[in-house]
Amino acid sequence: MGTSGFSSSTRGIPEVAEVPRHIAIIMDGNGRWARKRFMPRIAGHTRGVESVRETIRACMDRGVEYLTLFAFSSENWRRPADEVSFLMQLFIKSLRKEANRLHQNGIRLRVVGDLERFEPKLIAAIREAESLTAANTRFTLTIAANYGGRWDIMNAVKRLLQRHPDRAGDFNEDDLAAELSMSYAPEPDLFIRTGGEQRISNFLLWQLAYTELYFTDTLWPDFDAAELAKAIASYQGRERRFGRTSEQLKSKPEAAAPLTDPGTHA
Ligand code: IPE
Ligand code: IPE
Ligand code: MG
Repeated sequence: MGTSGFSSSTRGIPEVAEVPRHIAIIMDGNGRWARKRFMPRIAGHTRGVESVRETIRACMDRGVEYLTLFAFSSENWRRPADEVSFLMQLFIKSLRKEANRLHQNGIRLRVVGDLERFEPKLIAAIREAESLTAANTRFTLTIAANYGGRWDIMNAVKRLLQRHPDRAGDFNEDDLAAELSMSYAPEPDLFIRTGGEQRISNFLLWQLAYTELYFTDTLWPDFDAAELAKAIASYQGRERRFGRTSEQLKSKPEAAAPLTDPGTHA
């Protein structure tokens, strides 16, 4: 167990449940969905919000506890200014429209990423929705906005050094994990990327160490409960070994590796 209260996939062996406890998704393919219909790319983003709603509902129905959605990467600022500005407006509009509904459904909302670059009214909408839903425990929805995996790790290192100037760099993985922006959640069990691309695009670099990866050609606006079911079914067919052999997994539980892994250095 790390200081975050969740067991790390490298420092120990996390418990594996039938249904993934935490799903992280790169919602890709909005632009292509729209272009296929001779519509502007932004129409795909608007339609993508529907898929977000449906995916949250489907995850809750399936007993998933944490859902993390990549909404805007630190590299997405490189897009045309009008698309970036449309995405920001859509984000504000959706937050304002959905915050109460999230709250009524027992959902805690967290937004991770470097918010400093956002307009003050967007930051205010984020903080408001986060504090409204802070005490909810049924489900945790995390939106990664202006998020980058490298930014997150760099930030964590800086915080560690500031917090413990006395330790002369004597830290272990758990210390660093506790400073990451998603230290309140277990590492994702299942990663989904829609839109056909097979890459991580600077999403949760640290946390995906032992996550099961699932890629689908389905474009994000077409993603729904049935598509989620397919991803979970694929997950359920995987053998999560965390470095062990298949034989070890099939043998009696007492023969399995101990929870505190003597082979892992601090
Ligand atoms: C994902 O869809 C949404 C964001 C990155 C905000 P894209 O906009 O990347 O859609 P494609 O990949 O161009 O089809
Ligand atoms: C990744 O999608 C980021 C989000 C979905 C928010 P992109 O469409 O920006 O990814 P790349 O640039 O093609 O890898
Ligand atoms: Mg894309």
